[in-house]
Amino acid sequence: MCGIVGYIGSQDSKEILLKGLEKLEYRGYDSAGIAVMNDNGVQVFKEKGRIADLRNIVDEDVMANTGIGHTRWATHGVPSKVNAHPHQSTSGRFTLVHNGVIENYDILKREYLQGVTLKSDTDTEIIVQLIDLFVNEGSTTEEAFRKTLTLLKGSYALALLDVENNETIFVAKNKSPLLVGLGETFNVVASDAMAMLQVTDQYVELMDKEIVIVTKNEVKIQNLNGDDISRDPYTAELDASDIEKGTYPHYMLKEIDEQPLVMRKIIQKYQNDRGDLTIDQEIVDAMNDADRIYIIAAGTSYHAGLVGKQFIEKMAKVPVEVHISSEFGYNMPLLSEKPLFIFISQSGETADSRGVLVNVKEMGHKALTITNVQGSTLSREADYTLLLYAGPEIAVASTKAYTAQIAVLSILAEVTAKSRGIDLDFNLVQELGIVANAMEVLCDAKEEFEEISRKFLSTTRNAFFIGRGIDFYVGLEGALKLKEISYIQAEGFAGGELKHGTIALIENGTPVIALATQESVNLSIRGNVKEVVARGANPCIISMKGLETEEDSFIIPEVNGLLTPLISVIPLQLISYYAALHRECDVDKPRNLAKSVTVE
Ligand code: G6P
Repeated sequence: MCGIVGYIGSQDSKEILLKGLEKLEYRGYDSAGIAVMNDNGVQVFKEKGRIADLRNIVDEDVMANTGIGHTRWATHGVPSKVNAHPHQSTSGRFTLVHNGVIENYDILKREYLQGVTLKSDTDTEIIVQLIDLFVNEGSTTEEAFRKTLTLLKGSYALALLDVENNETIFVAKNKSPLLVGLGETFNVVASDAMAMLQVTDQYVELMDKEIVIVTKNEVKIQNLNGDDISRDPYTAELDASDIEKGTYPHYMLKEIDEQPLVMRKIIQKYQNDRGDLTIDQEIVDAMNDADRIYIIAAGTSYHAGLVGKQFIEKMAKVPVEVHISSEFGYNMPLLSEKPLFIFISQSGETADSRGVLVNVKEMGHKALTITNVQGSTLSREADYTLLLYAGPEIAVASTKAYTAQIAVLSILAEVTAKSRGIDLDFNLVQELGIVANAMEVLCDAKEEFEEISRKFLSTTRNAFFIGRGIDFYVGLEGALKLKEISYIQAEGFAGGELKHGTIALIENGTPVIALATQESVNLSIRGNVKEVVARGANPCIISMKGLETEEDSFIIPEVNGLLTPLISVIPLQLISYYAALHRECDVDKPRNLAKSVTVE
């Protein structure tokens, strides 16, 4: 949440910062700002709203070689111009951008800043005022920065400007992600390499509680004690075209369409020379050593985890529990004797998941992260990583990462099953290939989904998704997609559970989207549809070839029964997309949300 950029070099920094912020908008977009610094001092431009609104107020004539920028997802204080970053100390000497949450900001305010009138409601302003205070008491900027950091409790990624030293950006991080990018005659700072790919693909990862002194020619990393740390840069293997929309009107549509390609890429990445699926032996051993797997995730990744549980239990015969990370954090169940933790996270940065990871690592347990972002915090801190190879996912509503997570989980289950001598009656490579083809068929049926969306969702206030077994889990994801982007109140239910309360909400015309892809429960789910229809519901049945009836709204191609989530979700993604479009919602940047949730 919140995105940070910084630039120090010989070019004018404004455009580089604004372009960088545009790439980070997925992290939060309720307000934004930049501060640029030259020999005449620092100028701050900030605005409520999107980067486009900020662009409108930035003075084109100001030229400055140093600057920092921020796009915000509000935690402390409403989204407003005053609460937007950068924040300045009262003297105007220091200017700061921050991503994270300072938990003890109130205590620090009372203890150190009684005499200071604060302009904003943010926790961030406390940090910049403290630095100023310590400098006034005689510390150098570096000392004051260091001292302030030792007082902070919580998460932060920070970039600081000192008007009396316009050759330096002071940087620090704890728990929130931050990278330093290297150039020939410049250096940059960014929450995500994507932001600064426009100027460099060379990045240095920062670890928690590190401070970095960034000048145009040097990047000096230190720990809080002042010891120098050396770390080699890595090349960000991102293709600039991957993060562009191309001819698509929205990233979400592009990412939905990329799913067949991602399936094929995953098959290829996880195949050995003989054509068998393979993963690191260490991971297979960890799966086999475990007496129970605990999947920890949030949002869409949690829904993928629910499907993953089916795979691992049904194929590899290892018991699995799936937990929401924010709940697991403080309400840990009784663990088995030999647990293995699997963290599923598109971004690899979700703070709640990371909190659990730190905890279970301290307890001495092994952890595997399944993520789309190599080098992300969850990947670095777990014992093992499996990558999704889905390419950058920019739209806030996750689509291709969900199907990639499910595909990788199926591979993990298959390889584990085989290592345990369990014979599966299908060839997963072939089945995933069939899935990729089926995905293409569905992506080509956009007009039909637009029509279905218009028919069922154009005027409704609410919608229900029902299914049984694996279809229920996909229904949960369908409901999440719809509510995230169209703001229609949507809930997913197990077909049989509906009559224990929720059926009371069914009125004349209430859309009920039912998934019927599982032979074993086909009759039961159709029975549930009859129950809601008898009470006035408008049913939209999405079934699979071989199980279809005349009443169905759409029939998806036949794929292996376990793998149906990979394709049954596509109609749900597309009808949500069109519902949001019909309602003129901001598809890629829904209100109040952010893609990377780096605060707890
Ligand atoms: C946010 C995003 C969701 C995502 C969830 C978990 O809520 O908007 O799309 O599913 O975070 O994120 P992760 O990166 O851990 O998968």
